[in-house]
Amino acid sequence: MTEAELYAVYKGVYMPALLHPPHSLKYYEDFSFRQDDILVATYPKSGTTWMQEIAPLIMSGGDPASVDTLPNWDRVPWLEEQRSCVLNLEQRPSPRMFATHFHYNMMPPSFFEAKPKVIYVMRNPKDVFTSSFHYYGIASYLEPSTELWLNAEDKERILYISYEEMKMDLRDSVSRIAQFLEKSLDAEVIEKIADRCLFKNMKQNKMSNYSTVPREFLDQTKSEFLRKGIVGDWKNQLTVAEAEHFDAVYKDQMKDVKYKFVWD
Ligand code: A3P
Repeated sequence: MTEAELYAVYKGVYMPALLHPPHSLKYYEDFSFRQDDILVATYPKSGTTWMQEIAPLIMSGGDPASVDTLPNWDRVPWLEEQRSCVLNLEQRPSPRMFATHFHYNMMPPSFFEAKPKVIYVMRNPKDVFTSSFHYYGIASYLEPSTELWLNAEDKERILYISYEEMKMDLRDSVSRIAQFLEKSLDAEVIEKIADRCLFKNMKQNKMSNYSTVPREFLDQTKSEFLRKGIVGDWKNQLTVAEAEHFDAVYKDQMKDVKYKFVWD
């Protein structure tokens, strides 16, 4: 396929045409959010799948039924993807959970009216780069973009959390997310959720490890989706000179972003 066939431009952002045909973008634009919806927003490869496991477990009080039976993309579906229009999301009981890779300023009008809760997961961009590098080698589509969630105006309903924090203390992170979602859970349940969401355990979950995706779409014989799940793998990927170049570009691009990232 040519680059023009692979990508579509929506609101100035390139996206894989295969995943976002015009009718699904229309569905996305017309989508009606509810106030009690929960939206997981991420730049790709920042820990989306991880949060698609943690948040449903928190909301079910630790009951693993949904994470054991529903693939992550049906459990917490991407609103902007072609599957969303066939999932009957309007019929789902509250609180519904969705994911998005779209920017803050690309959200549909009802998002700003209904004001649902948002969990924005971030990760060291050098590790996002490294994770993407391997993913681009197995996925038959690609996706470059930047995130504007940090500049959102209504920050009080957004939980900002990083991959690094979840990696450093998963139990504490689950507890923070539960508090944000207004779910009061016993320490024992928090512990159980954190254990289920450990990399080594999630890797075994067929409903979360992408093993049901056909090989022509995602070739996991080359690199697994749940690949390494560590902080700092960029050191195995980038030379010192490449890392320095990355840092220089990053510093310049991020000069106007006033946010203290854990990796800075
Ligand atoms: P690596 O390629 O560095 O291993 P996304 O879901 O946004 O596409 O992000 C995928 C990245 O999150 C992959 O990173 C994957 O291994 C990692 N990941 C998924 N579940 C995880 C978990 N339970 N613990 C740590 N990392 C996890």
